[in-house]
Amino acid sequence: MRALLAAPLLLLASACNLPDDTARQREVAALGAEIEALKSARPGAAEPAEGPELGAQMLELQIRHARIWQAGEAENWMLAQFQLAELRESFAGIVETNGEHAALQPKKLSDVMPAMVDPAVKQLQAAIDARDKAAFEAGYDALSAGCNECHEAAAHGFLVIQRPRTPLLDNLRAEP
Ligand code: HEC
Repeated sequence: MRALLAAPLLLLASACNLPDDTARQREVAALGAEIEALKSARPGAAEPAEGPELGAQMLELQIRHARIWQAGEAENWMLAQFQLAELRESFAGIVETNGEHAALQPKKLSDVMPAMVDPAVKQLQAAIDARDKAAFEAGYDALSAGCNECHEAAAHGFLVIQRPRTPLLDNLRAEP
């Protein structure tokens, strides 16, 4: 009996609420439209900041790494210096834009990368400054070891970086 009474009461109640709900829905829709308008007025502001892909940044490292070798082997120290500076910039860019990359969690890429490659970069810099080919080769192998140390730490040990055997691109002259 109580249930029978309750049903029409409920219907009545929701009927009374109807205009109210519609008004609220309209208000919500209007606010939504306003937010969309604001978003499109400031392009890019609403999208989450998405950094470059680490794999693509690694391809850049691969090119720089190869070019340093060609320049050093040709004892073109100006070119080697230039390529090492570019490699440094690439490393800095990765630390800046992908410092929290999942590949090294719970460690931070922004800590791991400098720790693994900076000593070798310094060693290479000293060799280039001294125009010392033997020291350059030792520094170069130390750098490759740094690359590989991280690949192992990131469970990508199958990515093995080595001395290049052939020029990657031969349209940039290595000889001085
Ligand atoms: C701090 C860690 C770290 C260091 C240092 C590092 N790498 Fe990597 N590398 C990675 C990770 C992680 C991947 C896998 C990226 C992915 O999943 O796309 C990778 C992938 C690569 C790839 C494969 C890219 C592809 O898509 O084919 C190359 C090539 C590469 N690295 C080269 C290098 C070279 C050269 C160096 C040193 C000059 C270096 N890496 C140093 C972490 C590192």
